Amino acid sequence: MTPDGQRSAEILMQEGQIAALLAPGSAPSGVASILDATGCLVLPGAIDPHVHFREPGFSAKEDWEHGSLAAVAGGVTTVLDMPNTQPPTTTAAALRDKVTLIAGRSRCHYGLYGMLWAQNAEEIEALAEAGAIGLKVFLGETTASLPPPDDGQLLGALRRTAALGLRTAVHAENGAILRAAAVAGDGLAAHGRSRPAVAEAEAVRRVCLLAEATGAPILIVHVSTAWAVDILRRVKAEGRVNVRVETCPHYLLLTEDEAAPMGAIAKVNPPLRSAEDRSALWEAIADGTVDQLGSDHAPHTPSEKECVGDLYRAAAGFAGVQTLVPLLLTEVVAGRLGIGRLVELIAEGPARHWGLWPRKGRIAPGADADLAIVRLCPPAVLPRPFSKNPRSPLSDRPVHAEIVATLVAGQLAYRDGHPVGAPTGQWQRPNA
Ligand code: DOR
Ligand code: ZN
Repeated sequence: MTPDGQRSAEILMQEGQIAALLAPGSAPSGVASILDATGCLVLPGAIDPHVHFREPGFSAKEDWEHGSLAAVAGGVTTVLDMPNTQPPTTTAAALRDKVTLIAGRSRCHYGLYGMLWAQNAEEIEALAEAGAIGLKVFLGETTASLPPPDDGQLLGALRRTAALGLRTAVHAENGAILRAAAVAGDGLAAHGRSRPAVAEAEAVRRVCLLAEATGAPILIVHVSTAWAVDILRRVKAEGRVNVRVETCPHYLLLTEDEAAPMGAIAKVNPPLRSAEDRSALWEAIADGTVDQLGSDHAPHTPSEKECVGDLYRAAAGFAGVQTLVPLLLTEVVAGRLGIGRLVELIAEGPARHWGLWPRKGRIAPGADADLAIVRLCPPAVLPRPFSKNPRSPLSDRPVHAEIVATLVAGQLAYRDGHPVGAPTGQWQRPNA
């Protein structure tokens, strides 16, 4: 899959980059090794712009050895890691510590978000200077989040990010509405009522307005409701806000009603929604309102998830980095999604939004040789999951696609169900 569409080609790789795309059968003699991908589809390695690999502080939930192996086993060659760790990534020093902590351990490339919260607006320039891929702000409370800036602080912070050209990923749920709506009931429906659609819609509208006032680039993560889609479609059509939009496979593939029997395993923030919300998200994928897909890979330990009989206290979130690409390829097989559009959503889009384009996100001469070799196939048993806590409400779903091999910087990182070689993932800073 090239930016110009699907074609048959030999991909010549040299020193971690794509050197040339050649007509089939015209590879020069003397190449060091050949990988025969006949019958497969070669995609630019997916960039999962939304993972929580949990280090430092929560390595019982996930760590870089498990998380990055799950990534490459899922055709993901770059992940962007969220800052709600312990300590949280709120300072340049914390970001540098994270870089040191991960070095040499990751099988995929990685970028790191800094966290924006109520008390660190003056750190923004230092976080950018230290190499943050972007900022993340949690407008409503969730796992290990910190209190958000108030509207005045957020406006000031967005002025600073606008000057830097640094994009902010926004968890858009209004915290005050969440607190007022909280109901301690068992069952997913009670969780859904605790985080109503209006909380998302209000936060989306407000942050878009503040982004308009400042010119700051923003990206609304894990959009879950028809209401937010509707607002974002109109904001994007008006063209005055530099806003991009993400949704996740679970909002596209599951409703609250369908997931209800699964209980806490399907608890996530924002919650799973209705069939109408799900259809609105598919329309938003088709008409370009959605710009990227992220897994929101957010594992927890079984005991954190399964506070039996007390879904209210159970942790929110579940694994997803390994299933992102196979699940979406299954939608391609089902005819719901074009393969070209999928590549935009999982590779080109994230690369553009987070300063990795044109070196990543495309198969073309000069780009990094990060590739996913996939086979569209009949229903198959899902391969072994590699996350430390791999359960998800989607993990038993039949998939019609197989990740055959994944290359990171021109080298095999995963093949036929197994990791290959030592970790080679490199830290990624955004383009200047
Ligand atoms: O369900 C969620 N889990 N939503 C979030 O926003 C955070 C995530 C986590 O880090 O556990
Ligand atoms: Zn998240």
